[in-house]
Amino acid sequence: MAKPFHLAWFMSFSAGDWEGAFSSGGQPWDGRYYIDLARQMELACLDFIMIEDTLHVSDVYGGSAGATLGNGMYAPKHDPAPLAALMGAATSKIGVVATMSTLGYPPFLLARLASTIDHIAGGRFGWNIVTSSEDRAAQNFGLDALTPHEQRYEMAEEYVDLVCKLFDSWEPGAVVMDRDRRVYADASKVHTVDFEGKFYKCRGPLNTVRSPQGRPVFLQAGASPRGIRFAAKHADAIIGIARGVAGMKRYRDTVRQAAEEEGRDPDHVKIMFLIHPTIGETDEEALARRARLLADPASVQRSLASMSTFTNIDFAQFDLDQPLPDVTTNGTQGSLDRFAQKGSGKTLRQLALAEYDEAADPALDFVGSPDTVADKMAAVMEEVGGDGFLISPPMQRTSRRVFAEISDGLVPALQRRGLARTSYTRQTLRETLREF
Ligand SMILES: Cc1cc2nc3c(=O)[nH]c(=O)nc-3n(C[C@H](O)[C@H](O)[C@H](O)COP(=O)(O)O)c2cc1C
Repeated sequence: MAKPFHLAWFMSFSAGDWEGAFSSGGQPWDGRYYIDLARQMELACLDFIMIEDTLHVSDVYGGSAGATLGNGMYAPKHDPAPLAALMGAATSKIGVVATMSTLGYPPFLLARLASTIDHIAGGRFGWNIVTSSEDRAAQNFGLDALTPHEQRYEMAEEYVDLVCKLFDSWEPGAVVMDRDRRVYADASKVHTVDFEGKFYKCRGPLNTVRSPQGRPVFLQAGASPRGIRFAAKHADAIIGIARGVAGMKRYRDTVRQAAEEEGRDPDHVKIMFLIHPTIGETDEEALARRARLLADPASVQRSLASMSTFTNIDFAQFDLDQPLPDVTTNGTQGSLDRFAQKGSGKTLRQLALAEYDEAADPALDFVGSPDTVADKMAAVMEEVGGDGFLISPPMQRTSRRVFAEISDGLVPALQRRGLARTSYTRQTLRETLREF
């Protein structure tokens, strides 16, 4: 009997196929486009939608915002928190996960906001814990540059510790609504946290009631050694970006081992590997579509502008047809390592396209009809050992058409094989993730 795996949707703000994406005339800003996405993915029984975020307009690539804004990459965008509330209120089963940066929110505000959305979503809210990896984002919050990588994680440890204490500052059952005693909330069950750390200080308690999940589901995407330790300690689910099936297996084994060392049940840490399937009616159609996307000159620029955004390295300065010189970053190290394929001898152009072209690794070549891709996903999961996939559109070209290809094409093909859930049996997102 086949074992199902977890599926979720990575909602990036790249405008993607914007010429044809929005039936409301290119304007997704009233939120209805995102509600439609959430409902559609709920019909397909995905575990959750994760909304990415950054806190700046990137002008690293070529020293200007021309490439990112011209391609609608990462900006303009909405704040994920109200969007998650909207999407959560418009659905009843699927999880909604908002990216919120420790750079941007004082811990008290983040805890209160997360708790509020978890209520609105009926216990289906998740927080994607990020520290931000861009100098430009840091400059929007009063800093001259990004805090060093290891210190960001040190601060994040303390931050998460504090918000968890705030989540717990209201005991279960603190709201008693005892009419006879005229007591709404029982003050003996609401506690200050009196937190004094190296970086943060907060008295508490939170001024919102304990949320349905106690605390939201935690997502994380750390891929550096420090990032993996952080994720293994805190995350309910991790965005995995390893290269190749062997790399995926290694990454998962490393995280599970680290989770055990943290005293956690490794089955409570789901690794969701990011993939960009290209689906067609037939294999030939899908292959032709991928070839068209790869041939689009904008694809190289989009890929490099994206990598520039997260690493603060201007990739426009390098020759596209030469190997990439040695580069290091204070931004997202795991993503840079994966991108650079050190020692491969590939040119920058090849590296840029490899970000999108999973054919670079034949086992991960998720291009074809729904049945073909479902079979490939099954084979990869079998070898990796679990836990699931975070699906994003090919080359970040989001559109309603792509939503439908996944929800009405790929997912049913997986369901027919017993590899994807056909109904939700749990109420909260954490329970949904732990169902299998
Ligand atoms: C697939 C993926 C998606 C990510 N999404 C975001 C995001 O939306 N916002 C953000 O600030 N960071 C995002 N990150 C960055 C991570 O949160 C993290 O900072 C990064 O992976 C650096 O960790 P590392 O240096 O340990 O690899 C993402 C990373 C990956 C791999």
